[in-house]
Amino acid sequence: MASENPSRLSLHAEFVLSSPKVEDCPAWDLPEYAFIGRSNVGKSSLINKLVGKKDLAKTSGRPGKTQLINLFKIDRGTWVLADLPGYGYAKVSKTQRASFSTMIGRYVRERKNLALVFVLIDGRLEPQQVDLEFLKQLGAWRVPFALVYTKADKISGSVLMKNRAAFEKAFLKDWAELPPWFQTSAETGYGRDKLLAYIESVNAELSGRDPLA
Ligand code: GTP
Ligand code: MG
Repeated sequence: MASENPSRLSLHAEFVLSSPKVEDCPAWDLPEYAFIGRSNVGKSSLINKLVGKKDLAKTSGRPGKTQLINLFKIDRGTWVLADLPGYGYAKVSKTQRASFSTMIGRYVRERKNLALVFVLIDGRLEPQQVDLEFLKQLGAWRVPFALVYTKADKISGSVLMKNRAAFEKAFLKDWAELPPWFQTSAETGYGRDKLLAYIESVNAELSGRDPLA
């Protein structure tokens, strides 16, 4: 089956809807993977790189570009990617930040088919309190997540490793163990195959298939 080969250059992807409200999102059984993180961290860009289409999700150098919940059916409707607005960026207005926060909070708590949240962390930065707080909140809501350190092309491997180690140290003050984590570049495609393979393995697990079969 086509979905078992993560190294494909592009995946079939179909825009479904943009909505501010989780209740307007279709109630289906498909495993859904949401990309969430600070504004400008690279959520929309990474979605485009994963599916191999430049303009599927709208991106911008200015934070606050994605303002709604955007759903994309992938692999001819076998699973779903959700692109959400960002949280916690000082340059986005306070009103907008509050509205994005409400949207994100309701989506992660109420979306029944949510398989996993990828929480994107800017690989160039020291640990950000707002990310650690968001992760704690996900924990309190019992929402499964994995971490993705983004923009790997913008810094050296050693700086990325140092920033990741600092983030993990801060994370482990609140948590007993690390979640799955990935490093990516939406510019070069670094990390794409591993991320896709991981999604495929979760899809297989959820559908009761043997991921190695
Ligand atoms: P909001 O929708 O505003 O919350 O932002 P977002 O997280 O969706 O970020 P977006 O994908 O729009 O990217 C923000 C900026 O970062 C754009 O200028 C992208 O080109 C750039 N960018 C994103 N990912 C990468 C990356 O891996 N490497 C580099 N060099 N630039 C990136
Ligand atoms: Mg975006």
